[in-house]
Amino acid sequence: MERKRLNYENKLILAPMVRIGTLPMRLLALDYGADIVYTEELIDWKLLRSFRRENDVLETIDYIDKTDGTVTFRTCLRERDKVVLQIGTCDATRALKVAKMVEQDVAGIDLNMGCPKLFSLVGKMGAALLGEPEIAVNILKTLVDNLSIPVTCKIRILPDLDKTLELCELLQSTGISAIAVHGRTINERPQHINRNEVLRKISERLSIPVIANGGSKEIQKYSDISKFKEITGCNSVMLARAAEWNCSIFSKEGLLPMEDVIKSYLKYAVDCDNPPSNTKYCIQNILREQQESTLGRKFLNSQTLEQICDLWALSDYCQLKKKEFEEKGLLGRSQVSP
Ligand code: FNR
Repeated sequence: MERKRLNYENKLILAPMVRIGTLPMRLLALDYGADIVYTEELIDWKLLRSFRRENDVLETIDYIDKTDGTVTFRTCLRERDKVVLQIGTCDATRALKVAKMVEQDVAGIDLNMGCPKLFSLVGKMGAALLGEPEIAVNILKTLVDNLSIPVTCKIRILPDLDKTLELCELLQSTGISAIAVHGRTINERPQHINRNEVLRKISERLSIPVIANGGSKEIQKYSDISKFKEITGCNSVMLARAAEWNCSIFSKEGLLPMEDVIKSYLKYAVDCDNPPSNTKYCIQNILREQQESTLGRKFLNSQTLEQICDLWALSDYCQLKKKEFEEKGLLGRSQVSP
């Protein structure tokens, strides 16, 4: 059966976020109302040294790093038609190899053209591609021409408006299905204002959906998302920090208390057997200043998923799941070698 193609019009999207956008957070964002969820940026060579494995115990699909056995990318059927994998790359051949490898498991591929971190710039990836548009065009064209799923890219704006519009038109000409634009330049930090008027100009110029990004500071509640759409003239919005702090920002019903969000997140972390270090990092970013509280300090001393669950009265849930996994694991093994 032919798969439904992902449509980027009028969508609420979880932005790519390193370490935050792993499977538990993506599933939580979908529960709350996100239409599309982006993975964290995954670097091409790291995916290329991973192999695909169906995990019968967790009911996930895992890409495992051959060199150290760690999970590079974990996904599952539930998100298959909504998850976009973001690649960090500077090379069309490698990008295509990665995309072909994951094509059956994801709904779209995104090229990171906005990361300003030194490791990206040195590797000629991320925001370095803004200064090398011919390389970006080659990567995007190669992906568009050879994949059955849509291709997008995520950029930052350039200091000059005309050059930004020129770049966007060039990127559009590759056949990409949408473009996400963060309204800050490479040198601007989150505290700088987001250039919403530039996003508006881009959306007026392009025919493909422009996904507005960079508005988290202006988005404290669900209704602020519509305001951001109006100001930017874009009908799709991508949220990073607002979702990192309280993922229920995607919910039409309004923001949920932090404790509820942490509990729901933790359940998914247990379901996905998420590494404790990653789970802790995500909860730390929800707790923020609350880390100074008594509970917060206990949390900072916790090391295992069981210990973290205990703090939010989820010990029973954690133990039950662990038992279920152990039983399934035994079953799985006995089927392989009777
Ligand atoms: C990011 N951002 C980011 N962008 C990207 O293209 N790939 C990535 O992997 C990451 N990683 C990442 C991690 C964390 C913790 C944060 C806060 C941000 C940038 C992000 O997607 C977004 O463009 C900016 O945060 C601006 O949007 P908001 O936060 O105003 O909604």
